[in-house]
Amino acid sequence: MLSPRLPPVPRLRIACLGQTLNTPRALPHSIPATVGRCGVRYVTTGGPGVLMRQRQTQVRGKKTTTVVKLDDLPQGLIAPLEPLAPEPRDEDEEPAYPTVVLQARRNMQKFDNCVLLTRVGGFYEIYLDQANEYGPLLNIKVAQRKTSAGPISMAGFPFFQLDRFLKILVQDLNRHVAIAEEFPNDPSERIRAGGLMHTRRVARIVTPGTLIDENFMDPYANNYIMAIHLPETSVSDDSTRQEAQQAIDTSQPANLAANQIGLAWLDLSTGNFFTQPTTLESLGSVLSRISPREIVLDKALELKEDHAISSILQEERYLVSYCPKGELKKLEEWIPMLEGKIPVKTAKKFTDNEVDAGCLLLHYVRGRLQGLSMKLQPPRRYENMEVMNIDKNSMRSLEIKQTIRDGVFKGSLLHTIRRTVTKSGARLLNDWLTFPSTSLEVINFRQELVARFIQDDDLGDAICTLLRRSHDSQRLVQRFALNRGDADDLLRLANTIKATEDIVTLLQAAIKSRPKKQDGNDKEEPEKDCLEEMIDRINLKQPLKLARAIRDAIDEEGLVQQHQLEDSETGEMIALAQEIVKAEGTDEDGLIIPKKAAPLAASIKAKKPITGPGSWREIYGEDNELWTMKPGASSPLTRLHAQLKTTKEEKEKLTETLRTRFNASSLTLRWSSGLGHICHVKGKDAKSLPSPEEADTDPSLSGMRTLAASKTTRTFHLPEWTTLGEHLDKLRVQIRAEEQRVFASLRSSVVLNLVRLRRNAAVLDELDVVTSFSRLAVEQNLVRPVLNTATGTTIIGGRHPTVESGLADQGRTFQKNDLILSSSNQKDSTGRIWLITGPNMAGKSTFLRQNALITILAQIGCYVPADYAELGMVDAIFSRVGSADNLFQDQSTFMVEMIETAAILRQASHRSFVIMDEVGRGTTPEDGTAVAFASLNHLVRVNKCRGLFATHFHGISDLVKEQGMRVEDGGPDGAIDMYCTDVEEDDRGGFVYVHKLRKGTNRQSHALKVAKLAGLPEQAIRVAQEVLAKSGHHY
Ligand SMILES: Nc1ncnc2c1ncn2[C@@H]1O[C@H](COP(=O)(O)OP(=O)(O)OP(=O)(O)O)[C@@H](O)[C@H]1O
Ligand SMILES: [Mg+2]
Repeated sequence: MLSPRLPPVPRLRIACLGQTLNTPRALPHSIPATVGRCGVRYVTTGGPGVLMRQRQTQVRGKKTTTVVKLDDLPQGLIAPLEPLAPEPRDEDEEPAYPTVVLQARRNMQKFDNCVLLTRVGGFYEIYLDQANEYGPLLNIKVAQRKTSAGPISMAGFPFFQLDRFLKILVQDLNRHVAIAEEFPNDPSERIRAGGLMHTRRVARIVTPGTLIDENFMDPYANNYIMAIHLPETSVSDDSTRQEAQQAIDTSQPANLAANQIGLAWLDLSTGNFFTQPTTLESLGSVLSRISPREIVLDKALELKEDHAISSILQEERYLVSYCPKGELKKLEEWIPMLEGKIPVKTAKKFTDNEVDAGCLLLHYVRGRLQGLSMKLQPPRRYENMEVMNIDKNSMRSLEIKQTIRDGVFKGSLLHTIRRTVTKSGARLLNDWLTFPSTSLEVINFRQELVARFIQDDDLGDAICTLLRRSHDSQRLVQRFALNRGDADDLLRLANTIKATEDIVTLLQAAIKSRPKKQDGNDKEEPEKDCLEEMIDRINLKQPLKLARAIRDAIDEEGLVQQHQLEDSETGEMIALAQEIVKAEGTDEDGLIIPKKAAPLAASIKAKKPITGPGSWREIYGEDNELWTMKPGASSPLTRLHAQLKTTKEEKEKLTETLRTRFNASSLTLRWSSGLGHICHVKGKDAKSLPSPEEADTDPSLSGMRTLAASKTTRTFHLPEWTTLGEHLDKLRVQIRAEEQRVFASLRSSVVLNLVRLRRNAAVLDELDVVTSFSRLAVEQNLVRPVLNTATGTTIIGGRHPTVESGLADQGRTFQKNDLILSSSNQKDSTGRIWLITGPNMAGKSTFLRQNALITILAQIGCYVPADYAELGMVDAIFSRVGSADNLFQDQSTFMVEMIETAAILRQASHRSFVIMDEVGRGTTPEDGTAVAFASLNHLVRVNKCRGLFATHFHGISDLVKEQGMRVEDGGPDGAIDMYCTDVEEDDRGGFVYVHKLRKGTNRQSHALKVAKLAGLPEQAIRVAQEVLAKSGHHY
């Protein structure tokens, strides 16, 4: 329960789910109580600031000198101790544990797949078997506590380390964590709970996919949780899988098998919600792009180990949670969880599978939130969105988001191009790169904006400066949508709204000052400035009102002071731990406590009171309250503050009166947790006071009751002060209650503005990305590609975005190359597919990848590394590059190669862009040539797509010629152009690679040159040369 003496409006997000503003927090005052609770105390050991428990007796409400040397810790409110209640008699089967442990045990049984963290005062505790299992994993020592049912294991850590341990449990160990918070018991509940002040109820289950605002979340990536719905037929065994496979096999390229499964995914931290119908075959690719942190499947599938998608999920080791179907059945039933309605037209388009997936997802997420309300954005359907498909292998081999070799971000395409200044902008770029657009309109619009900011770089820079002032508004707003969000979040929101307003002003000025088009036709209306369209999407009217209300209500100064206070509290808590460790722990234990606690620990050790700016004692000195709201935030607040002021003045007057009456200038009016409202006198004044006996007999001193007397101090009750003090306390409680009411109304205003705020945030994110593109374009000399709806590709002077910068670091230059692919089969036209041969190390793979990357960059709206680019829109990028075993899945190198090739040949459409690098190299040259040619043939005759095909099997060129598949052969299948790279040798044995592509076939691979460069022993090289010479080959 809140005591009138608790400081106002604490800010403990981690500790008080969903009730940030008004939840009591563990104050330093309550440390002794916390320590004393259950007769155990915490000792730091094992990990930084990690505390464990040991037995220790503590007398309630009294300053005592204990082994932990708490005597110098300031003593404030001592929360009433919770008794170790006897075991409930009606549940005979339960062991005779203390009630707190019994409650935890029940919670563990109820949430049996979770690690249970139970809040007890200032700590989270883990009990019984879970303590034994997770204590060592979390590096916290496990203590044994004696109970009448025998010893039980327990481990704990201070509440402010929740994020740190959640990260280990959820992020690193992929566990589900149930957090049981303290809820105050009313008197009747208290009796039922064996006298416990609090009940511990699970307030939330945190799983990897259901993070909301945890500090350890990756700010640059979405945290998606996805439900996959498999209709009955796909669920079942092998025979149905074969049927599904047949359906896929018989389908035309790019016309994938019928929509067999439904997907729904959301990011709880932003409220983004999507659905998509897809097929078993495409599932792997969709998953690799969305990268869900957690996948939810119907519980019924849990027993079917070998269900249709188990291999796909196992291959990439997705984290799967099973959940029984809930009561949600229909799309309409989603509405209460959405911030707006789903338009009827859109609603009709959802397939049954998508709806089933969405129902499962929402049911699961709702269960994790344990009643915390959520407002998501209405679901968007990916089928409706025009996006380019990038298959799983391309995502990996093109190193879009991480490198193949180390799986790290640095070196990826995203890393190379990211210049965004906000976290939500970075997430949007991530999304764009995951789903490049196939809409000319969308791409052209983005390009327009980029062009505009290149033209006016000052404008771009000014916008960036303002964007830096905004906060991660998508996640910020969502916090309010989940009924979280505190006073700081409100201020951040107000700052973001202000930044948005300033951005709009900037854009408006830029539109006005834009020079009119000089096309000689003065009468013609100038086309709408792209900046205008951005402004049109921003709605500031209501948000500005909200921002004003926030600024008018929240006392920023007060908040800052509160944070200082909290920091010092945390410091004190750590210092306490350090003190205990020093006394009883090992030196090693001492090292793990944060350094910032050292001065505090020193004060404690030297038995000096902790004072100085920011110390709680100074700030909470009698009438020094900190409030979150300004007195003018509401009229009741104004009135209450006025009353508080007068009452404080009355207190001053009373002090003066009493000083005169008792002739005691040292008299002060105070409050103490154990004694209540007291008058305190010290020094010689103590002697001049009437003695306790005199007070008892003198009617004019009626009510004066001495509590403690020594030679130098006297403490006594006086009804005048008790009455006034109680009135002061009441006012403080009322003010706090009113502050909470004002806060609640601000929070609901945020929720009312949710849609507008999210839309505005989306515009800011887009501005971030396009301004970042413009900076990138200038910095890396990129050009604006021309996109069209044809099926050709012309890239003149193309470069590889990441290889180029890598070479530049070594002082080398990148050789530009052209690519011209056209769909027409005219005699003089170029091919649709290039067959590329040439020596090892001469740049074939680089060329293949660079063109795929340029295509992707162009379709996200970015400029591209080339002198000129004209690209027909691509619906999908496929690549078969490199080889990797998948022994986990019982797949050999060649098997993997064939699986990937098969997927491309089955899926690529005439709009797709395919790169195939050395298909068939995993087997004999004869078999390899056969398979490689067959694949090339399929691309030409069946898929009819654009593509690049690199090989060391020169026989393929002969087969192409034989089959009349060269451009010069004409006809419908004359689609292949031959290109090659070279090695230039001098007569002294020196050579250089010629990375410039030329027309023709190069039958020399010059493998031994690479072998030499790689340091193959001279002897081995000589043997290789002999072998080649014998077979009549050049080396
Ligand atoms: N256009 C270029 N300009 C400059 N250097 C290049 C160029 N293309 C490739 N390189 C350099 O050559 C190296 C090898 O290129 P790449 O792997 O593309 O050759 P390759 O022809 O595919 O060889 P292999 O046949 O052995 O697979 C690259 O790592 C890069 O350093
Ligand atoms: Mg290669």
